[in-house]
Amino acid sequence: MKNKVLILSGGISKERLISLDTGFQVAKELKRNGYKVKISEPFNNLERNIKIFKPNVIFNALHGQFGEDGYIQSILETYKIPYTHSGPIPSSIAMDKEISKKIFIKNKINTPKFFTYSYDLKNKDLIKKIDKQLKFPVIVKPLNEGSSVNVYICNKKNIIKILNMIQNYKKIMIEEFIGGREIQVAIMGNNKLGVIELKPKRKFYDYEAKYNINAKTKHIIPVNLNKKKMENVMNMALKAHKVIKCRGVTRSDFKYKNGKFYLLEINTQPGMTKLSLVPEIASFKGISFIKLIEWILADATKKK
Ligand SMILES: Nc1ncnc2c1ncn2[C@@H]1O[C@H](COP(=O)(O)OP(=O)(O)O)[C@@H](O)[C@H]1O
Ligand SMILES: [Mg+2]
Repeated sequence: MKNKVLILSGGISKERLISLDTGFQVAKELKRNGYKVKISEPFNNLERNIKIFKPNVIFNALHGQFGEDGYIQSILETYKIPYTHSGPIPSSIAMDKEISKKIFIKNKINTPKFFTYSYDLKNKDLIKKIDKQLKFPVIVKPLNEGSSVNVYICNKKNIIKILNMIQNYKKIMIEEFIGGREIQVAIMGNNKLGVIELKPKRKFYDYEAKYNINAKTKHIIPVNLNKKKMENVMNMALKAHKVIKCRGVTRSDFKYKNGKFYLLEINTQPGMTKLSLVPEIASFKGISFIKLIEWILADATKKK
């Protein structure tokens, strides 16, 4: 008997629409292959949906706050039904860019220099600190967002204005800007699945470059890197996956400049539409969309 799969999608994060898309596409693919599927929002009627539908496994297609940060994972633990992707602690660590970068550094995984800022310095002191520690331009980003939401490249002239605009976050990461290439790696269990390169036409790989087809970001696979570099970046991603204790599939985002890789972040719930990057890498390696989904479900249900 095939698994009955409850797909969690939507939610209340800024990535709600992307999650609905992931959920819808995973559902469609599973149904096409004979599975019984139900899509549910995470917070309205989830308990009721579980009681009525009685799934064997839950596919977590949520992204961002409350869906990818350990919150829903903690709730799912209490239902005692297997669910996909990482558990509560790895999810919350990976979602927090400050904590995860500290773990990368501790484990000698190269990541751009940074500090966090809590709106506690005078403007001119902040500029001085950046000049001294990072140099302009810098990247400014929230600690726990995804999809490039509120990520900005800042120079001396616009940084104060941009920081004021995103004051709601209370704490912000200010990071050394790394030009160069945009490389991402997919890990599947303890295996290195593969590498893809993105060539955005825009200033960087921002929200539009990620989701608006008219922004014409180029996906390059296979990536033009020699074997040694390829191994190098995949080993960094695998190490990040392991030290954070992730489960299932993850995608790590890198910049590559002057022969060096910089890990920006690890995503515990990468996008899973047919056009997303992990399915694209999988497909290049001969793993179809349904096989990838089935592997993720099987991994969730296997005894730990
Ligand atoms: N330090 C950096 N230097 C250069 N570009 C960066 C840097 N940090 C982020 N970016 C750009 O912003 C994008 C989103 O940043 P990332 O840290 O991956 O956060 P998100 O969780 O929003 O995806 C990256 O893919 C990259 O294009
Ligand atoms: Mg990213």
